[in-house]
Amino acid sequence: MAFILAAAGSAVGLGNVWKFPYIAGEHGGGAFVLVYLACVAGIGLPVLAAEILLGRRGGGSPIHSFATLAAREGHSPRWSAIGWLGVLCAFLILSFYSVVAGWALSYLWYAVSGQIAAPGDGSLDVAEAMSGLFAGLLASPAALIAGHTLVMALTMAIVAKGIRGGLERALRWMVPGLFVLLIALVVYAAATTGTFLAAARFLFQPDFAALSWEAVLVALGHAFFTLSVGMTAMMAYGSFLSRDVPIARASVTIAGLDTLVALLAGLAIFPIVFAQGLEPGAGPGLIFVTLPISFAQIPGGAAVAVLFFLFLAIAALSSTMSILEPVVEYLEQRGGWTRRRATVLLGSAIWTLGLGCALAFNVGADFTLFGMNLFDAFDYLTSNIMLPLGGMLIALYAGHVLSRDALAEELGPLPAYVFRSFRFLLRYVAPIGIGVVLIYSLMF
Ligand code: PHE
Repeated sequence: MAFILAAAGSAVGLGNVWKFPYIAGEHGGGAFVLVYLACVAGIGLPVLAAEILLGRRGGGSPIHSFATLAAREGHSPRWSAIGWLGVLCAFLILSFYSVVAGWALSYLWYAVSGQIAAPGDGSLDVAEAMSGLFAGLLASPAALIAGHTLVMALTMAIVAKGIRGGLERALRWMVPGLFVLLIALVVYAAATTGTFLAAARFLFQPDFAALSWEAVLVALGHAFFTLSVGMTAMMAYGSFLSRDVPIARASVTIAGLDTLVALLAGLAIFPIVFAQGLEPGAGPGLIFVTLPISFAQIPGGAAVAVLFFLFLAIAALSSTMSILEPVVEYLEQRGGWTRRRATVLLGSAIWTLGLGCALAFNVGADFTLFGMNLFDAFDYLTSNIMLPLGGMLIALYAGHVLSRDALAEELGPLPAYVFRSFRFLLRYVAPIGIGVVLIYSLMF
């Protein structure tokens, strides 16, 4: 699959459209968004480029590449532990991500079957009806498990059998399609709600007094999550990258596109939040309640809803396959496992773990880990601890284990100051920055 398309497909997903708006809402907007943008540019982007170039240079599964490259540079092959951290992270992320991707599929069904509409009998207003629809989904173990199961089955089919060709064709029109649709939703929100400026102010006017260390950690963690870095997913894709693709430019394109989609999603959603008097910090249901309110009112909104949730589901699937891929590659390369067998085994294990995340919204709500339900615990642990930690180790590896010459050779011709700043970010800024944020936020 064309690298840029696959990598952009991995980066753009539920993280941009579902997660970014709701965590921005929970952490007060402006200052949080600014910190997130700074983390993407100053830490996420260099680590993204590092992962891609390590993947290409290593050429194997991430675990193997860490070991062989370290040995080649005269360092311990134990650096492959970063790959193991990535494997664990992939298990945990996919198990909750798949549940949310299942919501997108459920909403695709609601859209097709005409349930995203203003109630005809006038008994409820639209906002109440759409909140009720989401609450109904969360209350149904069967519906949540069905969505999760379908997502895992599709992901396994893509990873095992290479129906990737089909996914690539879908991505070719989905990425521009999602873009156009989000812009149309932003324009619609701007034209009809009268709260567009309030939303823009909420998202872009920073109030640093309201910013906690916890919010900084969430912003940093999300920078990793949204770019798919810190767990070696991009490394796995990098291993297929041909030598003539300039990595610096590819990384900037991927990060830029990813950020734009997130900001557009925020601008489409917050005007509705304010116009309807909803709570910006409403949590994971935010987009599933707000956007349907628009769809129910837009002329032809039913068709728009079908398209939107179809695009969201495809964006989610191109991310889920990138989470499973590095783990499958490892088992396949270790020998003895066919791709099919590795995919079925790992996919089923993740599916089982995901059942716990699905049930966390209803019958399993009382089961807690670190004071959170299983879904929130997996999300917190991966985004806010494991991905930053993985990112820190990858930065240290690319900056200190890999020699300067090897780094320069992979990046190709670049202006000297760009190369020097890139290496400086990897060697010092990213590891120290991540370390400080982790320590402060966990202590205070
Ligand atoms: N970047 C994806 C998203 O924003 C999620 C993801 C995380 C994918 C980690 C791969 C690895 O939806």
